[in-house]
Amino acid sequence: MKLFLDSAILKDIRDAMSWGIVDGVTTNPSLIKKAAADLAASADGEELNMESYIKQVLAAAGRMCPVSLEVAGRSADEMIEQGKILYERFDPVASNVVIKVPVSTVNSDGDGDPFDGIVAIEELSDEKIPVNATLVFTPEQALLAAKAGAEYVSPFVGRVDDRIRKTAGMDFEKSDYFPASGIVQDESHEMITDNGLISGIELVARTVDIFHQYELECEVIAASVRNSRQIRELASVGSDIATVPFSVLRDMINHPGTRSGVDAFSSDLVDDYLALFNVEESGE
Ligand code: G3P
Repeated sequence: MKLFLDSAILKDIRDAMSWGIVDGVTTNPSLIKKAAADLAASADGEELNMESYIKQVLAAAGRMCPVSLEVAGRSADEMIEQGKILYERFDPVASNVVIKVPVSTVNSDGDGDPFDGIVAIEELSDEKIPVNATLVFTPEQALLAAKAGAEYVSPFVGRVDDRIRKTAGMDFEKSDYFPASGIVQDESHEMITDNGLISGIELVARTVDIFHQYELECEVIAASVRNSRQIRELASVGSDIATVPFSVLRDMINHPGTRSGVDAFSSDLVDDYLALFNVEESGE
């Protein structure tokens, strides 16, 4: 499974790239806002020059790592125009720009045309601009995006879990683990679902199944990932990619057993063994 970094913070991108295990980067308007706020709050109160900042992000990721940049408009025409602007302005930096388009742009008040996202995905894909269809909450939305030619779809794992927890009336922290096998109602013992899905992991699993069944050449980027156990589960259900916040990526490497093993092995090192690494001595 490929790992993308879900961040617009340049320092995080550079650090994560230096570990050699990151295959791409995803941004969205909320992550760009956070990066701008972080920069403004930094010691020198630097202001963000958006154009040059995005160019640095693309260069930091490098040629082999796709970077998703999201459109701001909500109508098909606006999204198509903005997708082309972003692609033409930024792809020359490192040939790695992917345009992120919401699968549907209808808002909570019901404003908008439900299929404008799909129309924009279709048009940009026809122009050979790679598209990542975002804000995917059902496998059928993913299927529509793939049929429209999206190169990637981004199911929002953690936000599906949030919706189930809210239905259940649970208090929770964003980073809390939510079981892939779902949860049941206290009294009835019936599964609590979001539109028939028992968890965000199930959303990814069903999407992967459908894409395999119909041999759709669209990669699944599991997004809205909240903790490292979810990455294990995403890998088990065959997600092509997981896009992961920096803190979760760092957490993936941690385990108390590893730490205490390091303590034990370090304290058991005997001088004769250490002497093997003393090149001067062993060469004598
Ligand atoms: O990639 C989508 C992601 O940034 C949203 O994550 O945790 O706000 O649901 P989250």
